[in-house]
Amino acid sequence: MTQQLDMNRIPQHIAIIMDGNGRWAAERGKPRSFGHQAGVDAVRKITSECTRLGVKYLTLYTFSTENWNRPATEVAALMGLVLTSLEDEIFMKNNVRFEVIGDIERLPVEVQQKLKQTMEHTAANSAMTMVIALSYSSRWEITKAAHDIALEVAEGKLKAEDISEETLSEHMATAFMPDPELLIRTGGEERISNYLLWQIAYSELYFTETYWPDFDEEGLHRAIADYQSRQRRFGKTEAQVEEEEKQQKP
Ligand code: IPE
Ligand code: IPE
Ligand code: MG
Repeated sequence: MTQQLDMNRIPQHIAIIMDGNGRWAAERGKPRSFGHQAGVDAVRKITSECTRLGVKYLTLYTFSTENWNRPATEVAALMGLVLTSLEDEIFMKNNVRFEVIGDIERLPVEVQQKLKQTMEHTAANSAMTMVIALSYSSRWEITKAAHDIALEVAEGKLKAEDISEETLSEHMATAFMPDPELLIRTGGEERISNYLLWQIAYSELYFTETYWPDFDEEGLHRAIADYQSRQRRFGKTEAQVEEEEKQQKP
C-alpha cells in the first residue's frame, strides 16, 4: 500500500477537518456521541500512521467556535472526550508532541488544565507534533492577530510600515509550524468551515465522502497519493515548474 507513495514527497504538514461523526452514528441508530467516541479511534490510527510516514505536523479540527452552538449535552460529551482521550502513554509511544490552538479560555477549567499538562509532558517528543484546533475558528485567530499587532504598534514595538505577510503569520496561533501542504476534509461536505483560512492560501484540498470514524490508513494513503499526483505551480506556468524540477534533480 505504501509503495505507491513517494516517500520523498510526504507533506510536512497535513491539516484535517474531521467531519461525519454524527452521521456515522445515526446510520447505526446510535447517539451522536457514539460517533465522536469512534472518531477518537480514528484519530489514534491516523496520528500513528502520519508519524510512521514522516509527517512533521498534523493539525486536527476538533471543535470549532461555531460548535459552541450545538446542544449543551453534545458540547459536554465532546469536552468529556477531550479529557479522557488525551493519554500521555499514546503520545509517548509514538514520540508525538501535543499542541493546541484556539480560544482556550472558553473551555472548562479542567479541560484547560489537561491540555496544559499534556503539552508539558510531551514537549520533548520529536517525531511529530499533533495539534488540535479546539474552540478554534480562523476569523477568531485573524481578528486576534490584528488586535495584537495594533497593540504592538500603539506601544511603539512595531512600525506600521514594517507589517508584512510574515508579521501576520507570526501572530497566528500556528506561528510555530509551516503552512499545511495538504488539507483533507472527510464526511462529504466541500467547505472550509472557518479553518486555517490564512494558512491554506496555497494548500492542496482533498475531499472524501468517508465519514471520519471510517477514515483509516488506506484513506490517508489515497489522499497523499492524490496530493503527490498534483503539480503545485504557485502562480508559475507548467513549463517553468518542470524546468525547476529538472534543475533540482542531480
Ligand atoms: C465532526 O463530526 C466532529 C465535530 C464537529 C465535533 P460532526 O459532529 O459534525 O458529524 P456530522 O457532520 O453531524 O455527521
Ligand atoms: C467542522 O465541522 C468543525 C470540525 C470538524 C470540528 P462541522 O460539522 O461543525 O462543520 P459545518 O458547520 O457543517 O460546516
Ligand atoms: Mg459536521
